[in-house]
Amino acid sequence: MTIAGIEALGLAVPPFTLPLTALAAARGVEPAKFTEGLGLGSMAVAPPHEDTVTLAVRAARDALQGIDPNSIGLLIVGTETAVDHSKPVAAFVHGLLGLPSACRSFETKHACFGATAGLMNALDWIRAGSANGKKALIIASDIARYGLGSSGEPTQGAGAVALLISTENLLVAFEERISGSFTKDVADFWRPLDSKDALVDGQLSQTAYLQALEGAWRDYQAKAGRDVRTDDFAAMAYHVPYGKMAVKAHKHLRGLEGDADGRASYAEKVAPGLELPKQIGNVYTGSLYLALASTLLSHPADLTGQSLSLFSYGSGSCAELFVGRVAAGAQARVRAKPWSALLAAQTVLDVPAYEALFKARDAQDVARPRVGTPGPWFAGEDARYRRYVEG
Ligand code: CAA
Repeated sequence: MTIAGIEALGLAVPPFTLPLTALAAARGVEPAKFTEGLGLGSMAVAPPHEDTVTLAVRAARDALQGIDPNSIGLLIVGTETAVDHSKPVAAFVHGLLGLPSACRSFETKHACFGATAGLMNALDWIRAGSANGKKALIIASDIARYGLGSSGEPTQGAGAVALLISTENLLVAFEERISGSFTKDVADFWRPLDSKDALVDGQLSQTAYLQALEGAWRDYQAKAGRDVRTDDFAAMAYHVPYGKMAVKAHKHLRGLEGDADGRASYAEKVAPGLELPKQIGNVYTGSLYLALASTLLSHPADLTGQSLSLFSYGSGSCAELFVGRVAAGAQARVRAKPWSALLAAQTVLDVPAYEALFKARDAQDVARPRVGTPGPWFAGEDARYRRYVEG
């Protein structure tokens, strides 16, 4: 039986960051609401020369180190920050990466679930034999925006996570061909076509997330044909719109098992996955995979051969719960990635500077000079066509 999984992970963040304590002070909010109440630290801030394409390309280059681009036969970009109603982010990314023309490429959308839809597609493509020995590149890339002064503002962020999917040299293997699914048409979070900011019913979004988690969990149990328990997993990665949501999610599952407190289990299985999200914020489609990367980076135990669960939630809504097994050497390989240097190199903004960048994005389709960040940057439109320049 073909076993497909994640061969490599790549990460990209924009060059700026804002500490949430600074935002709390500017908004007249008790800092503990953001740090303890929501479990936040900092949020990455994207300047106007940065978009879903540039973030995706940098994350992909990180994942593809030492990989022949000609080995890629499928490219899927999951995003809810599209740059065009017709042309997919994947097409721009394909060109900038110099991938072979013998490659299928497209974009997937279902709020934060988009990249997981891509991952499921890639796993099935490989397992069915359609890959013909080629690898898939799945990229989650987003800029989360709710609006200045809105209740969602502290839960913004920006970044991309790339997953190289194949059958060799795996970090995480997806041996099972089952996953738990849940869909419900719900008005918890959306972004109208003419708006750069998302609209959200914050309280409904939290209950919708928990309902979807329980639904996907029960569907996974039904498909597995056994009473799956949280203790079956050494680690559990959740979609992380903000850290406290993952705390609530794990508490909910533990509650179903009669552990109303759940804190000890959370500290062991979930907390290591929240380190990167706490520094970067919500990256929408990439948030689950940021939690996965963070788990491999920060979990104190040797996870070799251990099972970990992944829960993906996209508002609107669609959710999926699936299970992977950590391969030998995976944690060391992830710890060798240059991600702490990437985060340390971010410029720390004050609130006026963050607000200026935020407002500048409202006119993001005009040319902007690049600031920092090597790699491609968005240089404005030419005859209404987006231009990217390597810097
Ligand atoms: N010290 C410590 N804690 C404090 C505090 C203080 N001084 N003041 C408040 N808190 C706590 C509150 O008790 C609350 O904790 P609990 O939820 O455990 O009760 C927490 O801080 C938040 O307080 P509020 O609920 O009053 O916060 P809010 O109304 O300002 O909004 C939010 C919070 C709904 C998450 C809002 O930020 C939001 O809408 N964010 C965007 C939507 C979102 O991320 N939803 C998550 C599920 S949807 C999803 O996952 C998809 C996605 O990516 C968007």
